[in-house]
Amino acid sequence: MFKTIEWTDAGVVMLDQRRLPEQETYLTLRSPEELAEAIRDMAIRGAPAIGVAAAMGIALGFQREAGVPGDDRRGRFESLARLMAATRPTAVNLSWAVDRMRRRFEAHRGEPLPRLQAALKEEALAVQREDIEANRAMGRHGASLLPQTCRILTHCNAGALATAGFGTALGVVRAAASGGKKVAVYACETRPFLQGARLTAWELQRDGIPVTVLTDGMAGHLFQKKEIDLCLVGADRVARNGDTANKIGTYQVAVLAHAHGVPFYVAAPVSTLDPAASTGADIPIEERGAAEVATLGGRRIVPVGVPVIHPAFDVTPHRLIAAIITELGVVRPPYARSLAALRAPAPAGPGARKRGGAATAPGKGAAARPSRPERLARQARG
Ligand code: MRU
Repeated sequence: MFKTIEWTDAGVVMLDQRRLPEQETYLTLRSPEELAEAIRDMAIRGAPAIGVAAAMGIALGFQREAGVPGDDRRGRFESLARLMAATRPTAVNLSWAVDRMRRRFEAHRGEPLPRLQAALKEEALAVQREDIEANRAMGRHGASLLPQTCRILTHCNAGALATAGFGTALGVVRAAASGGKKVAVYACETRPFLQGARLTAWELQRDGIPVTVLTDGMAGHLFQKKEIDLCLVGADRVARNGDTANKIGTYQVAVLAHAHGVPFYVAAPVSTLDPAASTGADIPIEERGAAEVATLGGRRIVPVGVPVIHPAFDVTPHRLIAAIITELGVVRPPYARSLAALRAPAPAGPGARKRGGAATAPGKGAAARPSRPERLARQARG
């Protein structure tokens, strides 16, 4: 398996996702500024992956500093935090990772520089390692929702490339496939950056998982022809009520799924839940440059002078989501309650439930209480 991002003595090494699928080239980033630019320009992208990159960027910022005088360290940290947080606004994993680095920084701020450097590097590596673990757990929980044979529609790329490894939505696909289920994926191309066509297709093909690409506008036709059994996507931020921001175009897939009685699942780690957002209206939507929409493959496709819009994400209302798959289990509506229980600290003592008591563990629980879109889909399948 390729490495999305890696900490090395030479700097932070990452697979340049802008060049896929034609070229598999790796960038070595030696400063936090270079790293921030790589996030902004989407050499690395996907909510959990940019969280890892931001954490590494902060660690790098102290690594390269020959000696930050004790008093200036907090100022240095905060300017690195601002640099990272300003790169992309929608994925909450980024500010989550920055906050986590801040807590570690504060715990070691007064120590000799080598100790502070080691602590920050260790924290960034922990963010990376724990993301892979979370994805594997999500895979186990999510795979239990999938029928033995199924055709899955996904949007954007929520795979190993979008995370520290394994993937969220594609992690569920991987876990199901390696558990012997017969899964086939339909990947929306995902205009304008083409994460589905370029990245999802690339990584699933490498794994030998059947994948077919469609243009975004073909999804309705596929639903009508009963070619889709379920939808499975990632998320950039989940509000307290379950409203979920993901790549632009996800909302229309969810509407289609609802209209056709097909379950629509979101896979996201707890680091993607934003307790500060009460509904989707609180989620900032990134606007990228007009050129991404007005050009295709370097060629202008919109007449000069005609405006284009480019919201990079949209919000899927919680009522369209059959279940949210997290590393702590599968949560179902009403999300205001089930997500809150997931975030609640676990009670102490013998026999106490694990954190996330509202979530159902893999297997029987998750499959036993289907939500309405799931029931409709099962009826339709007979
Ligand atoms: O603009 P991108 O490519 O960073 O958008 C990525 C997505 O929308 C993903 O679906 C999301 O980050 C989840 S990745 C596990």
